[in-house]
Amino acid sequence: MTVLSVDGLSKTFDMHVLGDTQVVGLDDVSFDVREGEFLAVVGESGSGKSSLLKCLYRTYDPSSGEVVYHSPDGDIDLASCPDRTVIDLRGDSIGYTSQFLDEIPRVPAVDVVARPLIEQGVDREDARSVARDLLSALSVPESLWQAYPATFSGGERQRVNLAQALAPKPDLLLLDEPTSALDPDTRRAAIDLLSTYLGSETTVVGVFHNTDVVDAVADRVVVLDDGRLQRVVPTEAYDEEVVLG
Ligand SMILES: Nc1ncnc2c1ncn2[C@@H]1O[C@H](COP(=O)(O)OP(=O)(O)OP(=O)(O)O)[C@@H](O)[C@H]1O
Ligand SMILES: [Mg+2]
Repeated sequence: MTVLSVDGLSKTFDMHVLGDTQVVGLDDVSFDVREGEFLAVVGESGSGKSSLLKCLYRTYDPSSGEVVYHSPDGDIDLASCPDRTVIDLRGDSIGYTSQFLDEIPRVPAVDVVARPLIEQGVDREDARSVARDLLSALSVPESLWQAYPATFSGGERQRVNLAQALAPKPDLLLLDEPTSALDPDTRRAAIDLLSTYLGSETTVVGVFHNTDVVDAVADRVVVLDDGRLQRVVPTEAYDEEVVLG
């Protein structure tokens, strides 16, 4: 079953500082995402990976095209539905971590991770217990669980962000380079967690630079080049291309 149908998606940016020129972020991109699959998005820097995820999450208003989310309650075009609908979906159905670390308020790490669960109605102590399990699985030292992530290292904050996004097990999870700041051991822990914590009910679209990570987690790979979709291939086929150079 298809969970997301991206059709003719484009995003251009009007650059007033550059004398009203336009920068193309995405150009007529179409692909489907199957329910429960892990789809990796790869491509060179500036190829439109983050723009794609932001259009799916509606951080960016697409310039044209459709992003149809086949939700249990019917089809919703994420490119054009009302803001209110997007906000409701973000609460429960669609999760996202940005490539760059968000400012995190002065809240202990364990509560940052527990918050989405509590908002879903999970009991506060149960939510904290899940949060501790996630932080532990990501090797965030126990001494930091009650501390404020504002003071954490980049890699520690990235793990808090990832734990927060994973915690509620959204139907669709959008991850923009969630392991970029991690060393090989913690990256391995994050990859293990992605495959053990999320069941087959969660569909993931994740941007990754590292081919080892793509190898370990992805079912299929979307290759972007200069804002355009180059191809969508099974991970094994993508591996062969990388090996052949
Ligand atoms: N808010 C914006 N305003 C103007 N241009 C933007 C904006 N966001 C993205 N772009 C442009 O769109 C193009 C694609 O950027 P994007 O961030 O999607 O690339 P990326 O593939 O995620 O790169 P990286 O691997 O470096 O993160 C770039 O040319 C970028 O300058
Ligand atoms: Mg990016």
